[in-house]
Amino acid sequence: MDFELSPEQKEIQELAREFADREIEPNAAEWDREHRFPREIFAKLAELGLMGTCVPEEYGGAGADFLSYILVLEQLSRADAGVGVTVAVHTSAVTLPLLAFGTDEQRARFVPPLARGDHLGAFALTEPEAGSDAGALRTRADAEGDGWRITGAKQWITNARYAGTFLLFARTDQETAGARGVSAFVLDADHVRVTRDEEKLGLNSSTTNDIVIEGAVVGRDRLLHEENHGFRVAMKTLDGGRIGIAAQAVGIAQAAYDVAREYAKERHAFGRPISAFQAIQHKLADMATEIEAARLLTYRAATLRERGEPHTEAGAKAKLFASGVARRQTGEAIQILGGYGYTKEFPVERYYRDAKITEIYEGTSEIQRLVIARSILGLQEPSVAGRRG
Ligand code: CAA
Repeated sequence: MDFELSPEQKEIQELAREFADREIEPNAAEWDREHRFPREIFAKLAELGLMGTCVPEEYGGAGADFLSYILVLEQLSRADAGVGVTVAVHTSAVTLPLLAFGTDEQRARFVPPLARGDHLGAFALTEPEAGSDAGALRTRADAEGDGWRITGAKQWITNARYAGTFLLFARTDQETAGARGVSAFVLDADHVRVTRDEEKLGLNSSTTNDIVIEGAVVGRDRLLHEENHGFRVAMKTLDGGRIGIAAQAVGIAQAAYDVAREYAKERHAFGRPISAFQAIQHKLADMATEIEAARLLTYRAATLRERGEPHTEAGAKAKLFASGVARRQTGEAIQILGGYGYTKEFPVERYYRDAKITEIYEGTSEIQRLVIARSILGLQEPSVAGRRG
């Protein structure tokens, strides 16, 4: 067991930290207030290679390892969780599955523009009636000529408004219900129409959209992996993506803790700094402990993934725990700041709003428990899908 980051990992962590402190954190409150998607930030991140941190150099990336990418996400999310999720979806939910499942031709064609940050990626799985039950999706891809005609609607698609490449899941076998019969496709922005911008509790600097696909005709070169085996692409993608969301949660929780600790040292009550009171000390001690535990689970899952070892369970545990820490401890940070914490004068109310989504997207905490339970009980086939008969 080695808890030390390598010199390369430390260097990339420092690069992301400095960039986040200089370019992101000072603007995050304004982006949140104005619901502004900071496009210029992604161009700057691309210049640093951070839109393709763990993508091999031959495909236009920075060639770092998966843990380095996780360190970057943590630092970006510490400054602004909306920027964090934009990069997370772009990288782990689009670029990496294209690398993992693409043919040589698909990799050469689709990965470099994403890894270089020339455009953003969006992951289009969820539909109005297929959220946790992703296998219930209805978007259809009907065979036409040597390819398919795709028709349907997707909901809550992060990055869609600004994306150039979509990893989209559609049903190619209309006779088969559930996860079997789903295929993965690579679409361009002109295959898709963005119909709505979601208004959210937080993450206001990220974009979340409804999209429709109105008879987009695509050839076989757009099919990722095997026909009718796209659900596996989605699940493997989420196995890695969930580690990214865990890192986002750690970053948010760390930001809240940093503000609460400094505030506790400066704020006086009853003639003493409030950090002198045991009630506050215990809160800070719990925050520090839980954040460290969440970080270790996250780094461990990332390390397993990097080594090519099974990481479904480890990633689900990391996301389950880290998202709970972020939700709880951002609330405790508000409590330490008292009335100030509830105002926009301090950023902790934003952290609190941003933290909640980490318990929901890329699989709710309930779905993470289901994934963990199946793994520890050795259940191959889930009872949830069984009901479809
Ligand atoms: N790796 C590889 N294959 C996997 C897998 C994994 N981790 N998990 C399942 N599979 C395979 C199964 O082996 C099965 O394959 P076969 O058909 O060949 O046997 C197939 O996938 C279907 O699996 P299940 O029978 O387990 O499917 P299910 O219908 O019971 O669903 C589920 C499983 C875990 C509940 C899944 O639907 C799920 O993860 N739901 C949550 C969806 C989710 O996380 N959505 C996030 C949206 S993206 C997002 O949020 C991005 C963002 O904006 C930040």
